Amino acid sequence: HGTSRINDKGHLEIGGVDALDLAAKFGTPLYVVDEALVRQRAREYVEAFKATGLKFQVAYASKAFCVMAMCRVAEEEGMSLDVVSDGELYTALQAGFPAERIHFHGNNKTPDEIEMALNAGIGCFVVDNFTELALLNAIAAERGQKVNILLRVTPGVEAHTHDYISTGQQDSKFGFDIGNGTALRAVEEALRQPQLNLLGVHSHIGSQIFEVEGFRMAVEKVAAFSLEVRAKLDKTFTVINLGGGFGIRYVEGDAPLPVATYVEAITGAIIASFTAADYPLPEIWVEPGRSIVGDAGTTLYTVGTSKDIPGVRKYIAVDGGMTDNPRPALYESKYEAVLANRPEDEATELVSVAGKCCESGDMLIWDLKLPAVQSGDVLAVFCTGAYNYAMASNYNRIRRPAVVFVKDGQADLVVARESFEDIARNDLLPERLRKET
Ligand code: LLP
Repeated sequence: HGTSRINDKGHLEIGGVDALDLAAKFGTPLYVVDEALVRQRAREYVEAFKATGLKFQVAYASKAFCVMAMCRVAEEEGMSLDVVSDGELYTALQAGFPAERIHFHGNNKTPDEIEMALNAGIGCFVVDNFTELALLNAIAAERGQKVNILLRVTPGVEAHTHDYISTGQQDSKFGFDIGNGTALRAVEEALRQPQLNLLGVHSHIGSQIFEVEGFRMAVEKVAAFSLEVRAKLDKTFTVINLGGGFGIRYVEGDAPLPVATYVEAITGAIIASFTAADYPLPEIWVEPGRSIVGDAGTTLYTVGTSKDIPGVRKYIAVDGGMTDNPRPALYESKYEAVLANRPEDEATELVSVAGKCCESGDMLIWDLKLPAVQSGDVLAVFCTGAYNYAMASNYNRIRRPAVVFVKDGQADLVVARESFEDIARNDLLPERLRKET
């Protein structure tokens, strides 16, 4: 997995740092991010696009993992940034991310969020619906500002993935439907709004996608739509954004394609569709999230208790769980793991890894083969870089883990472990509930 390997002590090593040293120094649970691998993934996208000669932007979908250090890495690697809330926008701006390279997504941006983004001077809004079109125009008019926008369209392509992360089909909360004429009306409306500068359209068909067919179909729908818009409204798009969704390998059997293959399929389809219609080639934008950070993340846990139900199952419990990784509980996601302190020991038992939350659904991995597990072993769960810290919670008032970046043998804390003080930071006791002292 990534730049992890087994060192001469027989321990798991990530980014040149012994996982046991990380666990000892920073405590567990701990998110470890292999910075070199993040950068490598980013470069794979940028290089693949450069090779096409087309104009492009690779916008890191920060929802996958949005902390200041990650925003800096994204910036250094020449990526743009997709944000979906004031909190992500705030994080990016705090990190000094160039506002003109930020794209704002979301199906219900509030007036405050729009103001905040306009104050910052972000590069582009991805407008999701008619309410937002009117609201954005009104706020921009009040401020005398011109705003770049894309329109999010639903191409009517169903990605073969989990229902909750599939978004391109008609029955979706996101975007303007191409199929029933709504998207065309949205373009008309956008062209009528004096403050809005329509660059083009955006489509995102889903997440954790392993084939190029869905992207090709989306390009074809979007291209056909672009031609229709040119013919009926005399408007030429200069940007086509194909979203994210490029899959990664969590477990054996997951078969993602090389980044370059996705990029070539998308750019190839764009070139074919638009050139055939004598349409000036638009800029191509994409928004990978998971495939930038997913496999660069490893979570280290300490094994605590175990429970053996003879003939049924053996549970081992770790010091984290659904609070730091809710994906198994939410999507039945699968993960692989090893014992970081003895990854090479022969796997002799079948265990199921439980978290420490008070509910039965708090399971991280069912049926994992490991060496005979003991209390105090350090379990390393792979591929936890995307949608783990980002979706972590304080359920059961469990403190969120720290995040460490490792690179070339160096480990740097990029998010501190939450403290007890953090846990109760926003709690208030009204006068009538206070204890007399
Ligand atoms: N662009 C848009 C408009 C999106 O909605 C998303 C993801 C992305 C880009 C990035 O997709 P990616 O490259 O990361 O697949 N929490 C779920 C994933 C939800 C994805 C939501 N949108 C999970 O843990 O699998």
